[in-house]
Amino acid sequence: MILASGSTVRDVAGIKEEKAALRARLLAARARLSAGQRTEAGRAIRDALLERPEVQMAGTIAAYYSVGAEPDTRGLVYALWKRGSYVLLPVLRPGGDLDWASYEGPDSLVPGPRGLREPGEPPRGVDAVARADAVLVPALAVDRAGNRLGRGGGSYDRALARVGPLVPLIALVYDDELIDHVPADRHDVPVRAAVSPLAGITVLAGGEVLARGDDPPEPPRLGGPIPPGPPCRTPCGIPGPPPRLGMISSRRSRVLI
Ligand SMILES: Nc1ncnc2c1ncn2[C@@H]1O[C@H](COP(=O)(O)OP(=O)(O)OP(=O)(O)O)[C@@H](O)[C@H]1O
Ligand SMILES: [Mg+2]
Repeated sequence: MILASGSTVRDVAGIKEEKAALRARLLAARARLSAGQRTEAGRAIRDALLERPEVQMAGTIAAYYSVGAEPDTRGLVYALWKRGSYVLLPVLRPGGDLDWASYEGPDSLVPGPRGLREPGEPPRGVDAVARADAVLVPALAVDRAGNRLGRGGGSYDRALARVGPLVPLIALVYDDELIDHVPADRHDVPVRAAVSPLAGITVLAGGEVLARGDDPPEPPRLGGPIPPGPPCRTPCGIPGPPPRLGMISSRRSRVLI
Protein backbone atom coordinates (compact mmCIF):
# COMPACT_ATOMS: atom_id res chain seq x y z
CA MET A 1 0.00 0.00 0.00
CA ILE A 2 1.26 3.47 -0.91
CA LEU A 3 0.46 6.42 1.30
CA ALA A 4 -0.19 9.94 -0.01
CA SER A 5 3.40 10.85 0.82
CA GLY A 6 4.71 8.10 -1.40
CA SER A 7 6.00 6.18 1.57
CA THR A 8 4.77 2.68 2.10
CA VAL A 9 3.10 1.23 5.17
CA ARG A 10 6.25 -0.82 5.69
CA ASP A 11 8.34 2.41 5.74
CA VAL A 12 6.06 3.94 8.34
CA ALA A 13 6.15 0.83 10.50
CA GLY A 14 9.91 0.62 10.11
CA ILE A 15 10.39 4.21 11.20
CA LYS A 16 8.17 3.60 14.19
CA GLU A 17 10.23 0.58 15.18
CA GLU A 18 13.49 2.42 14.65
CA LYS A 19 12.25 5.27 16.82
CA ALA A 20 11.14 2.90 19.56
CA ALA A 21 14.54 1.20 19.69
CA LEU A 22 16.40 4.49 19.75
CA ARG A 23 14.07 5.86 22.41
CA ALA A 24 14.64 2.82 24.62
CA ARG A 25 18.42 3.14 24.29
CA LEU A 26 18.41 6.85 25.08
CA LEU A 27 16.03 6.51 28.01
CA ALA A 28 18.23 3.77 29.47
CA ALA A 29 21.27 6.05 29.18
CA ARG A 30 19.38 8.89 30.83
CA ALA A 31 18.33 6.60 33.66
CA ARG A 32 22.00 6.11 34.53
CA LEU A 33 22.52 9.83 35.16
CA SER A 34 22.64 11.06 38.72
CA ALA A 35 20.49 13.90 40.03
CA GLY A 36 23.68 15.97 40.22
CA GLN A 37 24.43 15.40 36.54
CA ARG A 38 20.91 16.42 35.56
CA THR A 39 21.14 19.57 37.64
CA GLU A 40 24.56 20.44 36.27
CA ALA A 41 23.38 19.87 32.71
CA GLY A 42 20.39 22.10 33.39
CA ARG A 43 22.62 24.88 34.68
CA ALA A 44 24.89 24.77 31.64
CA ILE A 45 21.92 24.74 29.28
CA ARG A 46 20.32 27.62 31.18
CA ASP A 47 23.47 29.72 30.91
CA ALA A 48 23.92 28.95 27.19
CA LEU A 49 20.32 29.93 26.45
CA LEU A 50 20.22 33.06 28.56
CA GLU A 51 23.10 34.60 26.67
CA ARG A 52 21.48 34.08 23.25
CA PRO A 53 19.94 37.23 21.72
CA GLU A 54 17.01 35.20 20.38
CA VAL A 55 16.15 34.23 23.93
CA GLN A 56 16.97 37.60 25.43
CA MET A 57 14.68 39.33 22.92
CA ALA A 58 11.83 36.89 23.36
CA GLY A 59 9.00 38.70 25.09
CA THR A 60 7.02 35.47 25.13
CA ILE A 61 8.80 32.16 25.41
CA ALA A 62 7.25 28.70 25.40
CA ALA A 63 9.26 26.47 27.72
CA TYR A 64 8.62 23.26 29.67
CA TYR A 65 9.13 22.05 33.20
CA SER A 66 11.48 19.07 33.20
CA VAL A 67 10.47 15.66 34.57
CA GLY A 68 12.42 12.50 35.27
CA ALA A 69 15.89 12.37 33.78
CA GLU A 70 15.50 15.35 31.46
CA PRO A 71 18.09 18.11 31.83
CA ASP A 72 16.72 20.18 34.68
CA THR A 73 14.82 23.21 33.30
CA ARG A 74 13.41 24.49 36.59
CA GLY A 75 16.18 27.05 37.07
CA LEU A 76 15.92 28.12 33.44
CA VAL A 77 12.17 28.64 33.62
CA TYR A 78 12.55 30.61 36.83
CA ALA A 79 15.35 32.76 35.36
CA LEU A 80 13.34 33.55 32.22
CA TRP A 81 10.34 34.57 34.30
CA LYS A 82 12.39 36.53 36.81
CA ARG A 83 14.08 38.40 33.97
CA GLY A 84 10.68 39.53 32.68
CA SER A 85 9.79 37.15 29.86
CA TYR A 86 6.23 35.94 29.63
CA VAL A 87 6.73 32.19 30.05
CA LEU A 88 4.21 29.70 28.72
CA LEU A 89 4.30 26.10 29.92
CA PRO A 90 2.42 23.17 28.39
CA VAL A 91 -0.70 21.65 29.86
CA LEU A 92 -1.23 18.12 28.55
CA ARG A 93 -4.76 17.58 27.26
CA PRO A 94 -6.37 14.13 27.54
CA GLY A 95 -5.98 13.48 23.78
CA GLY A 96 -2.24 14.24 23.94
CA ASP A 97 -2.42 17.75 22.49
CA LEU A 98 -0.78 20.60 24.37
CA ASP A 99 -2.58 23.59 25.82
CA TRP A 100 -0.51 26.45 27.26
CA ALA A 101 -0.71 28.54 30.43
CA SER A 102 1.53 31.14 32.00
CA TYR A 103 4.18 30.41 34.59
CA GLU A 104 3.85 32.80 37.50
CA GLY A 105 6.64 31.54 39.74
CA PRO A 106 7.46 28.18 41.35
CA ASP A 107 4.39 28.30 43.57
CA SER A 108 2.06 28.59 40.58
CA LEU A 109 2.59 24.98 39.50
CA VAL A 110 0.23 22.11 40.23
CA PRO A 111 0.56 18.34 39.74
CA GLY A 112 -0.45 17.23 36.24
CA PRO A 113 -0.79 13.82 34.55
CA ARG A 114 2.20 11.46 34.22
CA GLY A 115 4.16 13.12 37.02
CA LEU A 116 4.21 16.47 35.22
CA ARG A 117 4.15 19.81 37.00
CA GLU A 118 1.83 22.15 35.16
CA PRO A 119 0.86 25.80 35.51
CA GLY A 120 -2.27 26.38 37.58
CA GLU A 121 -3.18 29.49 35.60
CA PRO A 122 -6.09 29.37 33.11
CA PRO A 123 -5.09 27.59 29.88
CA ARG A 124 -4.78 29.92 26.87
CA GLY A 125 -5.61 27.35 24.20
CA VAL A 126 -3.57 25.13 21.92
CA ASP A 127 -2.80 28.04 19.57
CA ALA A 128 -1.15 30.16 22.29
CA VAL A 129 2.19 28.60 21.34
CA ALA A 130 1.92 30.33 17.95
CA ARG A 131 2.51 33.68 19.68
CA ALA A 132 5.79 32.62 21.27
CA ASP A 133 8.96 34.35 20.09
CA ALA A 134 11.00 31.22 20.89
CA VAL A 135 10.01 27.66 21.78
CA LEU A 136 12.10 25.38 23.98
CA VAL A 137 11.41 21.77 23.10
CA PRO A 138 12.11 18.59 25.05
CA ALA A 139 13.93 15.92 23.06
CA LEU A 140 15.64 12.59 23.55
CA ALA A 141 17.83 13.20 20.51
CA VAL A 142 18.27 15.47 17.51
CA ASP A 143 20.34 15.23 14.34
CA ARG A 144 21.99 17.91 12.20
CA ALA A 145 18.96 18.08 9.94
CA GLY A 146 16.86 19.09 12.92
CA ASN A 147 15.02 15.78 13.16
CA ARG A 148 13.93 15.31 16.73
CA LEU A 149 12.99 12.29 18.76
CA GLY A 150 10.49 12.96 21.53
CA ARG A 151 8.80 10.73 24.08
CA GLY A 152 6.50 9.26 21.46
CA GLY A 153 3.20 10.99 22.15
CA GLY A 154 3.35 13.28 19.15
CA SER A 155 2.33 16.15 21.42
CA TYR A 156 5.16 18.43 20.39
CA ASP A 157 4.78 17.59 16.73
CA ARG A 158 1.24 18.86 16.95
CA ALA A 159 2.23 21.96 18.92
CA LEU A 160 5.20 22.88 16.70
CA ALA A 161 3.07 22.59 13.57
CA ARG A 162 1.25 25.69 14.87
CA VAL A 163 4.40 27.80 15.18
CA GLY A 164 5.48 30.12 12.36
CA PRO A 165 8.55 29.41 10.23
CA LEU A 166 10.66 32.25 11.67
CA VAL A 167 10.47 31.28 15.31
CA PRO A 168 13.48 29.61 16.94
CA LEU A 169 12.60 26.05 17.95
CA ILE A 170 15.36 24.91 20.29
CA ALA A 171 15.67 21.32 21.52
CA LEU A 172 17.30 20.70 24.91
CA VAL A 173 19.48 17.59 25.01
CA TYR A 174 22.51 16.06 26.70
CA ASP A 175 25.66 16.24 24.58
CA ASP A 176 25.64 12.63 23.40
CA GLU A 177 22.05 13.01 22.24
CA LEU A 178 23.11 15.15 19.30
CA ILE A 179 23.46 12.20 16.96
CA ASP A 180 24.04 11.45 13.27
CA HIS A 181 20.60 10.24 12.37
CA VAL A 182 17.16 10.48 13.92
CA PRO A 183 14.43 8.62 12.02
CA ALA A 184 11.71 11.00 10.92
CA ASP A 185 8.20 10.56 9.62
CA ARG A 186 6.05 13.02 7.69
CA HIS A 187 4.37 14.32 10.82
CA ASP A 188 7.68 15.13 12.54
CA VAL A 189 8.40 18.83 12.79
CA PRO A 190 12.14 19.59 12.72
CA VAL A 191 13.73 21.93 15.23
CA ARG A 192 16.17 24.67 14.19
CA ALA A 193 18.76 24.47 16.95
CA ALA A 194 19.84 22.28 19.83
CA VAL A 195 21.37 23.25 23.12
CA SER A 196 23.43 20.87 25.22
CA PRO A 197 25.62 21.36 28.30
CA LEU A 198 29.10 21.28 26.75
CA ALA A 199 28.42 22.17 23.12
CA GLY A 200 26.04 25.02 23.94
CA ILE A 201 23.95 26.07 20.96
CA THR A 202 24.25 23.98 17.79
CA VAL A 203 22.58 25.40 14.71
CA LEU A 204 20.70 22.75 12.75
CA ALA A 205 19.59 22.73 9.13
CA GLY A 206 16.50 24.98 9.35
CA GLY A 207 18.29 27.50 11.54
CA GLU A 208 21.13 27.98 9.06
CA VAL A 209 18.78 28.86 6.23
CA LEU A 210 17.12 31.49 8.35
CA ALA A 211 20.37 32.84 9.76
CA ARG A 212 21.54 33.56 6.19
CA GLY A 213 18.38 35.57 5.63
CA ASP A 214 17.11 33.29 2.86
CA ASP A 215 13.46 32.68 2.32
CA PRO A 216 12.03 30.70 5.17
CA PRO A 217 11.57 26.99 4.55
CA GLU A 218 8.25 25.50 3.66
CA PRO A 219 6.03 25.21 6.71
CA PRO A 220 5.63 21.74 8.24
CA ARG A 221 3.77 19.39 5.91
CA LEU A 222 1.04 18.26 8.22
CA GLY A 223 -0.90 19.62 11.11
CA GLY A 224 -2.41 22.78 9.63
CA PRO A 225 0.21 25.34 10.65
CA ILE A 226 -1.14 28.83 11.09
CA PRO A 227 0.81 31.79 9.73
CA PRO A 228 2.54 33.98 12.29
CA GLY A 229 0.27 36.72 13.56
CA PRO A 230 1.15 40.39 13.93
CA PRO A 231 3.72 41.31 16.57
CA CYS A 232 2.25 40.84 20.03
CA ARG A 233 1.11 43.98 21.78
CA THR A 234 0.44 42.06 24.96
CA PRO A 235 2.24 38.96 26.14
CA CYS A 236 1.16 36.15 23.89
CA GLY A 237 -1.46 38.45 22.36
CA ILE A 238 -3.63 37.74 25.34
CA PRO A 239 -5.10 40.43 27.53
CA GLY A 240 -3.65 39.95 30.95
CA PRO A 241 -2.15 41.74 33.90
CA PRO A 242 0.15 44.68 33.11
CA PRO A 243 3.74 43.67 32.38
CA ARG A 244 5.98 43.38 35.37
CA LEU A 245 8.95 45.69 35.72
CA GLY A 246 11.64 44.65 33.28
CA MET A 247 9.27 43.07 30.75
CA ILE A 248 10.95 42.93 27.37
CA SER A 249 8.62 44.01 24.61
CA SER A 250 7.44 41.06 22.60
CA ARG A 251 8.73 40.86 19.02
CA ARG A 252 8.94 38.13 16.46
CA SER A 253 12.53 37.11 15.87
CA ARG A 254 13.88 37.45 12.33
CA VAL A 255 17.50 36.64 12.89
CA LEU A 256 17.58 33.08 13.97
CA ILE A 257 20.15 30.78 15.34
N1 LIG B 1 0.15 16.40 13.82
C1 LIG B 1 -0.28 15.23 14.35
N2 LIG B 1 -1.59 14.96 14.40
C2 LIG B 1 -2.03 13.81 14.94
N3 LIG B 1 -1.25 12.85 15.45
C3 LIG B 1 0.07 13.07 15.41
C4 LIG B 1 0.62 14.26 14.86
N4 LIG B 1 1.96 14.20 14.99
C5 LIG B 1 2.22 13.01 15.57
N5 LIG B 1 1.09 12.34 15.83
C6 LIG B 1 0.98 11.01 16.44
O1 LIG B 1 1.95 10.86 17.45
C7 LIG B 1 2.58 9.60 17.29
C8 LIG B 1 3.98 9.66 17.86
O2 LIG B 1 4.76 10.49 17.06
P1 LIG B 1 6.33 10.57 17.26
O3 LIG B 1 6.90 9.20 17.37
O4 LIG B 1 6.89 11.49 16.23
O5 LIG B 1 6.40 11.26 18.70
P2 LIG B 1 7.52 12.17 19.27
O6 LIG B 1 7.89 13.25 18.31
O7 LIG B 1 8.61 11.31 19.74
O8 LIG B 1 6.73 12.77 20.50
P3 LIG B 1 6.51 14.28 20.98
O9 LIG B 1 6.18 15.13 19.76
O10 LIG B 1 5.37 14.21 21.94
O11 LIG B 1 7.78 14.70 21.63
C9 LIG B 1 2.53 9.33 15.80
O12 LIG B 1 2.56 7.96 15.53
C10 LIG B 1 1.24 9.95 15.38
O13 LIG B 1 0.20 9.03 15.44
MG1 LIG C 1 7.93 13.25 16.36
